Amino acid sequence: MMVCEFKPGLEGIPAAQSGISFVDGQKGLLEYRGIRIEELAEKSNFLETAYLLIWGELPTKEELTAFEEEVRYHRRIKYRIRDMMKSFPESGHPMDALQASAAALGLFYSRRDLHNPVYIRDAVVRLLATIPTMIAAFQLMRKGNDPVRPNDNLDYSANFLYMLTEEEPDPLAAKIFDVCLILHAEHTMNASTFSARVTASTLTDPYAVVASAVGTLGGPLHGGANEEVIQMLENIGSVENVRPYIEDCLQKKAKIMGFGHRVYKVKDPRATILQNLAEQLFAKFGQDKYYDIAQEMERVVAEKLGHKGIYPNVDFYSGLVYRKMEIPTDLFTPIFAIARVAGWLAHWKEQLAENRIFRPTQVYSGLHGMEYTPLNQR
Ligand code: CMC
Repeated sequence: MMVCEFKPGLEGIPAAQSGISFVDGQKGLLEYRGIRIEELAEKSNFLETAYLLIWGELPTKEELTAFEEEVRYHRRIKYRIRDMMKSFPESGHPMDALQASAAALGLFYSRRDLHNPVYIRDAVVRLLATIPTMIAAFQLMRKGNDPVRPNDNLDYSANFLYMLTEEEPDPLAAKIFDVCLILHAEHTMNASTFSARVTASTLTDPYAVVASAVGTLGGPLHGGANEEVIQMLENIGSVENVRPYIEDCLQKKAKIMGFGHRVYKVKDPRATILQNLAEQLFAKFGQDKYYDIAQEMERVVAEKLGHKGIYPNVDFYSGLVYRKMEIPTDLFTPIFAIARVAGWLAHWKEQLAENRIFRPTQVYSGLHGMEYTPLNQR
């Protein structure tokens, strides 16, 4: 067997052959099924993009209508799932609530028929449809309120914002939110997608696949960074404090949240689109002083770390967009999950098509031939 060099973080090691998305980190290029992210952000909607990612082609008008109707029909969650969620501690993080609830779906839909396209489609529809409902339900229940039923007159994104706030959202806010979902829907072999594929490769059910990916997405080095960015901007507090803050981070060798990427060595194209969306929101709903701080951060980080290819990533401006929509900070990562479930499901399907269970190797660095010392002699 060929012995390979150990690469921490598996940097540069292909874990799958995939036709779902493509990133060129030097050029700042991202494509879903060959279509540039800028074009999808401008012309598509989230469910159409999800369809593209999962089934590999843009849907026809009839296919899209049927898909949107199926997702709309399955938005409600079973009352037992709601009751289970009611007993979650309100102080718990919504990502943990989401992970537990996604896994619980597997209890309610326990039939596993991975070779049956009808089963695959049902699971795709159910996960896309219910994840927003579960997040919104947790948000209302942790405040002591009953969750609201999905509103069949609203499309996917507007309905989520409605379930969160109990009010029909502003059309511009709903449109921008939908674009945010497109931007976060898929991103090649990142940590949570790898996690999804490893879990999928055991031929377990799709709810376990998504639950394991949600658990991986939550960490501050991955999806959790958007939350940390807002905390950082609040801590910095003013444009004058930006330079000393960054110099302090560099001196302590601390990571600056929302900057840097394993693949992108230029500004993440999604950050550019998100910055533009944030500006549209500020133009309609008023300026945000944290945006001035963010822009100054971008300038100072480029000056200090540009030579290492450290620029804003997707998480840097997304929080400012959600904050302007008055979404609580700890829901930013669950919203990332609403979007990324499309990518995870696309990878689940692709993994099943040519499955081999993941079973990597390791470089053993421990001892050999040790003797067992009885407990009373240790
Ligand atoms: N602030 C300061 N220095 C940085 C940063 C940063 N945010 N990111 C990378 N560097 C430096 C790092 O110190 C190292 O320098 P040196 O070579 O002198 O030791 C060099 O750049 C390479 O960094 P690394 O940690 O080896 O890079 P990585 O590919 O392992 O990590 C990363 C990528 C995204 C985890 C990292 O850039 C980071 O921790 N960023 C902050 C957290 C963040 O914003 N995460 C969101 C990532 S994008 C969305 C997502 O994946 O969910």
